[in-house]
Amino acid sequence: MDKTIEKIVSLSKRRGFIFQSSDIYGGFSAVYDYGPLGIELKNNISQLWWKDMTQVHENIVGLDSGILMHPKIWEASGHADAFNDPLVDCKQCKSRYRADEFLGENLAINWNDTQCPKCGTTGNLTEPRNFNLMFKTHVGPIEETGAEAFLRPETAQGIYVNYQLIQGAMRLKIPFGIAQIGKAFRNEIVARNFIFRTREFEQMEMQYFVKPGTDNMIMNKWKEKRFQFYLDILDINKEKLRYSKHGKDELAHYAKDAWDIEYHFPFGWSEVEGIHNRTDYDLKQHEKFSGKNLSYFDQPNNERFLPYIIETSAGLNRMLLTVLTDAYWEDDANNRVVMKLHPRLAPIKAVICPLTKKDGLPEKAREIMEILKPNFKVIYDMQGSIGKRYYRQDEAGTPFGITVDHQSLDDNTVTLRHRDTQKQDRISIEKISHIIENNIKNY
Ligand code: GAP
Repeated sequence: MDKTIEKIVSLSKRRGFIFQSSDIYGGFSAVYDYGPLGIELKNNISQLWWKDMTQVHENIVGLDSGILMHPKIWEASGHADAFNDPLVDCKQCKSRYRADEFLGENLAINWNDTQCPKCGTTGNLTEPRNFNLMFKTHVGPIEETGAEAFLRPETAQGIYVNYQLIQGAMRLKIPFGIAQIGKAFRNEIVARNFIFRTREFEQMEMQYFVKPGTDNMIMNKWKEKRFQFYLDILDINKEKLRYSKHGKDELAHYAKDAWDIEYHFPFGWSEVEGIHNRTDYDLKQHEKFSGKNLSYFDQPNNERFLPYIIETSAGLNRMLLTVLTDAYWEDDANNRVVMKLHPRLAPIKAVICPLTKKDGLPEKAREIMEILKPNFKVIYDMQGSIGKRYYRQDEAGTPFGITVDHQSLDDNTVTLRHRDTQKQDRISIEKISHIIENNIKNY
């Protein structure tokens, strides 16, 4: 694993962002648990996405569909047949690879002459076999007679099969969108790079239903809008973001055109979000498999058609890894590590510290907690020297440190420390909520 990623993994564990699953049992491969700071950060990111999609756009509504769905859905969507990765095994050391890791998409290589990257032997790699990435389960108490079902590999299908119900209930006119955040599961052959590729993850997807013919223009708009989200809302460094267009041979079975938004991770440029023109592929397939007419009636023009779908599909966990990686800063001059998160993303907005444990300072600090608690996620910390307390919060990404000292008792003021500059202001307790709010807004 890359050194910077290793440091982020270690900080994530130390500060309570992310733990490997089932740690006391030695871990469970490619599944991660989000600790107290991780869940706050994840919630902040997903709420900002939700707001940007559903609150800001009057014509986009939300949905929360089931993880388990009718198994026919996966036949219709093509996942039962086409959602495969080519798997290669080493007979010698039992390592497992995705065949495309060896030579990009060119699978016409002679496996007998190829060396195993792990044990270094040649002639022990098997020919690639297709491996379906969907997790299978059984519905009903007895496995043999129960219906086979799948954990969804994408949230999108839940939107397609509900689209007419939603359109009718909300009286939506094309173009309109349906957004959903939820878990997805893929039995990845090779899961690596921390939370980048895992077997259980969360997607934030929005499907935009448009009139055929307007799809290219609308696709371009969403491409730009989604890129801007990373800059304006998540405050990601522009130089570390780029688009990447899928070549013809890379397109998923459902897509006519596809673009990725990539981030320059320490392990290289990698996809965080995909924007796809899925045409009417999915609705056509669901019409065929369900026997239902899924067309849309365009009243003003008195015509019926199957809408085209522009999809924006982001991984919440990958977005979180992008945010963590972009924020990670080794401030060598001050011998500290700082998570330079935008305050709007920071899991904790401020730490409140009484300078000493006596003279009424803890009580005064508690008063400030009560003022701030209703509006901000804040914590109280009395343990260790003030420097140690600040440095702990620098690693947690907490943008503000509020210290109560003896002067606070005389003139009702405290010091406000800014995480990035370590600059301190003396501010009035009466104005504290307002000042924190302004500092978050104007960061
Ligand atoms: N509905 C379209 C779709 O699922 P995708 O490119 O397969 O498209 C979309 O996935 C996004 O989901 C990716 O850009 C990525 O952020 C996230 N994602 C996919 N597989 C993942 C995995 N194994 N672990 C974490 N995130 C994943």
